[in-house]
Order: sequence, then C-alpha cells, then structure tokens
Amino acid sequence: MTFQAPRGTEDLLPEETAVWRKVEGLFHSICARFHYGEIRTPLFEQTELFVRGVGESTDIVNKEMYTFEDRGGRSLTLRPEGTAPVVRAFVEHKLFGEGGGPIKLYYMGPMFRYERPQAGRQRQFHQLGVEVLGSHDPAVDAEIISLAWTFFQELGLKGIQLQINSVGCPTCRPMYRESLIRYFTPYEEELCEDCRKRLTKNPMRILDCKVDGEKDFVKEAPIILDHLCDDCTHHFERIKGMLDDLQIPFVINPRLVRGLDYYTRTAFEFMEGSIGAQSAVGGGGRYNGLVSEIGGPDVPGIGFGLGMERLVLALRNQGIPLEGDDGLDFYLIAVGERARRERIKLMQTLRRAGFKVETDYAERKMKGQLKAADRLNARCALILGEEELAEGKILLKDLKTGEQEKVPLLEVVEACRKSLGISRGLGYFDPPVSEE
Ligand code: HAM
Repeated sequence: MTFQAPRGTEDLLPEETAVWRKVEGLFHSICARFHYGEIRTPLFEQTELFVRGVGESTDIVNKEMYTFEDRGGRSLTLRPEGTAPVVRAFVEHKLFGEGGGPIKLYYMGPMFRYERPQAGRQRQFHQLGVEVLGSHDPAVDAEIISLAWTFFQELGLKGIQLQINSVGCPTCRPMYRESLIRYFTPYEEELCEDCRKRLTKNPMRILDCKVDGEKDFVKEAPIILDHLCDDCTHHFERIKGMLDDLQIPFVINPRLVRGLDYYTRTAFEFMEGSIGAQSAVGGGGRYNGLVSEIGGPDVPGIGFGLGMERLVLALRNQGIPLEGDDGLDFYLIAVGERARRERIKLMQTLRRAGFKVETDYAERKMKGQLKAADRLNARCALILGEEELAEGKILLKDLKTGEQEKVPLLEVVEACRKSLGISRGLGYFDPPVSEE
C-alpha cells in the first residue's frame, strides 16, 4: 500500500520552503516596521466561534469547514480563516484594556477549507494576515492597505489591482438589503439555486455570484454606494483621499461583497491577473461588530489575509527570481583517516562560528568531493589532508577564483571570515566579535 498527501494539500520540499521563508521573512520585516506584533493561535477552535464569527449564511460555514468531535464530545473546527481566532484571543486575554491605542497584530499559518482543489485553491492553504483592534480611524484602513502594498512592492510583484468598496453598516445596510430584495424578487426564477437561497438570507452575495454575477440584471442592480449613511460615506471618502496621498492606485468595485459576514464599511481585495480563476491574492476589510458578536466589548476591527500559495504562484508567473538558498559557505574535504576524524571538530567550530558548512558522508574521492562542493554552490573548499595536518594547517580554496592558501588550523575561523569578506560572526547567537 502506498500513501499520498490528502487531496488539496501539498508537501513543501526544501527548495520550496526556502522561497516561502524568504516571503515570510519579508512579511515579518514589514510588520515590524509598521509596528505589528505577531500572534499565534491554535489550529482548531470551538466550532461555534466560526459559526458566529464568519456567519451562518456563508459558504465557509455551510460547506467548507473541517468539523469534528473530539474524544470529549466537543465540536471543534480546523480554522478556515484567521480573523475570528484572533478576535477570540483578543477578548480572552482582555487586550482591549491596553494603553488606549489600537492593538496591532499579524499572523502566518495554515487554514483549512473543504473546497474543490484547483490551481491556487487548496484545502490546506496558508495566509499572511494582520488585524487591528480598537480604532475607527480611517487612517488605520489606509495603513493596513499600505502595509500590503509595501509588501507587494518589496516582493517585486507587478500589476496588482486594489479594488475597494464600502459595504455599509447596521444603520444603512438594512435599507439597501430591502431594496436589493425588492429588485431581485421579480428575477427569482432566473437566479441560480444558491442565489435563490441568498435572496432572503444574504442578497448582497448575489452581486458577486460566479454564476449569476455576469447576468445583465445583476450588473444593473442597485449599488450600496448610493445607499450609504453619512458616516459611512465620510469614512469611505477619507480612505480614498489617503490612498491618493499614498499614491496607491485603486478601483472602486461597488459589487465587491466578500464571502464572510462580518464586514462593515471598508471591504477590499487585491487581484492579480496571471493566477487564473482564483485571482484574489488577498482580501480584507472592517468588522466593527465582530468583537461584540463573539462576546467582547463593542470594539471595532479591521484586517486582511493574503494567500501564500497564490502569492508564490504570482511571483513565479511574473518571472520574479525566487532562489531561496544562497548556497554553502564552505565544503570541507578530508582525506585520510586522521583528517576525517579531525573534520568533525572542525565542522563544529565553523558551524558555531555561523558558517554554512557541509562535508562528504559518502566516502567519495577528492574529485567527487570537489564536484559535490560545486553542485552545492559552495563559495570555498577547505581541504585537510595528511600533509596539511602535519603542518597544523588547512588549505582554503576559493571555488570562484581558484585562489588558494594554506592557513593555520588555529586561525581557521578568522581566515574563513576574511575569505567571505566579513569581519564578524554570522549567527544570530554569536558572541559579539570585538572590532580590532
Ligand atoms: P478570504 O478572502 O476568505 O478572507 O481569504 C483571504 C485570501 O486567502 C484570499 O484572497 C486567497 O488569496 C486566500 N485563500 C482563501 N481560500 C483559499 C484556498 N482555498 N486556497 C488558497 N488560498 C485561499 C479571509 O480569510 C479574512 N479572514 C481576511 C480578513 C482578515 N478580513 C479581515 N481580516
């Protein structure tokens, strides 16, 4: 019997994880610059959190959750998204008491949705996301959009289109809902099966339905932007002004609804043309009612989630170089019994000093080892033979220039640093090296 990774999941092999770490590293760096703190929540939560948070009428809750009962009879669900868990943690740890300012958080990790797998759509996928809790200020809306935009720019991604909309608030949305129901009711027969259900439950979702969205009568339906209350209009205008100031181009898409129920006011998506049918690399918006919906105080929130697989796909399609691994610093070649024993200690010393070092574990001849060094993209080879050992030295050979010199074994770390053109240690935990 053989096994395969479950449908809709994939293994990330070292070449791929190297790319992912680069992308994740950049996201960590940008979040630090924007002053967001990292949060890690469990991969599963009480099912009810998502039913309440994401919304009973959504596809996610109705069709896509991985829900199971544990041995204690509790209903648990693998998280289909990151916002509800972050809000749950915010309430549980009473972070709303802190300092008066908003709490700014970010996360990265796997999410799970039982969807039909295709390019850019998996059952286990990964999101990079941010959430800000505790501010109504439209400057926060602009800040998170600009954070994502900075990320795309620094990744080198081109042609990302930002679409924005306002989906209103509990003051203005009910009236818009009513007008949509009135408008669509005469067309009921022409709606797809899903949209017929949406007609009374969540008529706004008809606007972005994959089946009905292209029908003329749907395109001509009333738009929310004509129904916003003054506060929502003002909020939306302020954001647009700030995006202009930041020179972040956007298009207004009045039919942008989003697939989760918690949104109020701002909703946005980042689209990328090359990744096919699943063209949203990310999306987000405000959720001013979510914190109180799941038992917390009346605190507003806003955030976004970006799809890691889709980002990497877009980077590939756009031909952006993704080499993750810069290769080895040194390949250590030991010839002879004594030298082979000596190399264990030497490897330890060099690795502790922060260098990336590999050696031969297949008992290859000198030529084979040099070939391996080349294949592993090593900068230099360190060659230790009987002769060198007798002299207390080691041969350091630059594999690019071919230059070589014998250096005393006792000074090998310093010589290695010099050969790479660096004056201090490489490792995170290196003791500081004093500048001579
Ligand atoms: P979402 O639009 O459902 O929003 O997901 C965000 C992004 O995750 C999508 O734009 C897409 O790139 C990626 N994604 C979603 N489903 C899949 C899938 N099955 N396979 C691959 N990628 C996928 C949310 O999840 C919200 N929590 C975002 C948010 C945060 N809103 C406010 N704060």
